[in-house]
Amino acid sequence: MEVFTSIHSLKNFLSVQRLQNKSIGLIPTMGALHEGHISLIQTASFQNDITVCSIFVNPTQFNNPEDLAKYPRTLEEDCAMLESAGCSAVFAPTVDEMYPEPTMLTMNFGLLETVMEGASRPGHFNGVGIVVSKLFNIVQPHKAYFGQKDLQQVTVVKRLVADLSFNLELIVCPTVRENDGLAMSSRNRRLNDAERAHAPIIYKILLDAKEKILGGNDIEETKEAVQREFLVLAGFELDYFEVVNIRTLQSIHTIGSTATTALCIATFLGSVRLIDNIVF
Ligand code: PAJ
Repeated sequence: MEVFTSIHSLKNFLSVQRLQNKSIGLIPTMGALHEGHISLIQTASFQNDITVCSIFVNPTQFNNPEDLAKYPRTLEEDCAMLESAGCSAVFAPTVDEMYPEPTMLTMNFGLLETVMEGASRPGHFNGVGIVVSKLFNIVQPHKAYFGQKDLQQVTVVKRLVADLSFNLELIVCPTVRENDGLAMSSRNRRLNDAERAHAPIIYKILLDAKEKILGGNDIEETKEAVQREFLVLAGFELDYFEVVNIRTLQSIHTIGSTATTALCIATFLGSVRLIDNIVF
């Protein structure tokens, strides 16, 4: 496995691979890798000759400087995990390499970013859109891999690929969970023991709400019941619980026959903000 820090050297490596007709899969990440990320690498290395994992804590998608400063940086451990997962190349650029000058571009995803993560983190998807576009242009992969864990990100990136005609296939990989159901996240390591023990309730509440809605319960009433449940859960502070159409991300009020529905949740547990979702 080769580690590249410059765009130029990565492009040279990839142009040699392309001349040999090798297929290229890209997995964009911000590092602090866990089994969730590794599942994307494994899928990509199964489907492509060359797997490129980018590791870049992208400043333009953080609206909170403290969050950016606190983001875990574990390049050495990450590289060891990537190597054993069959990754061919790591792209770990500096901020200067990616943004020699502060970008003046803004990307606005309209209604897709006025809800959920977009509403709670203004400017977040602008930054995601910019960095993902840069990575797509640098790597020019045949396929790019994203996790369903970040469902809104997947919807936004799908629109980005369509709107800017990126010549690649987007592959969405299922959310990898701990044995007790907690969705894997680099933020889980910031939970203390008691919080970690309580965290799996998030997934249980999602499953329970799904069952109720599919069983014919009113969506608004189910949402209110979830909100009430969080009011009495010690340590939790619910940010949102939404029932949305997966393509438009707008709220659904009744279950139709065609649209794919997602239940999306974001909650603080202590000082750690956790997100999860299920799709049906
Ligand atoms: P990051 O949070 O590092 O996530 C990288 C990829 O791993 C994303 O596609 C995310 O959805 C996926 N992922 C995270 N946890 C997962 C889990 N438990 N199961 C399956 N997949 C999981 O998302 C980002 O970085 C950034 O916004 C990025 C796209 C790299 C742009 O900077």
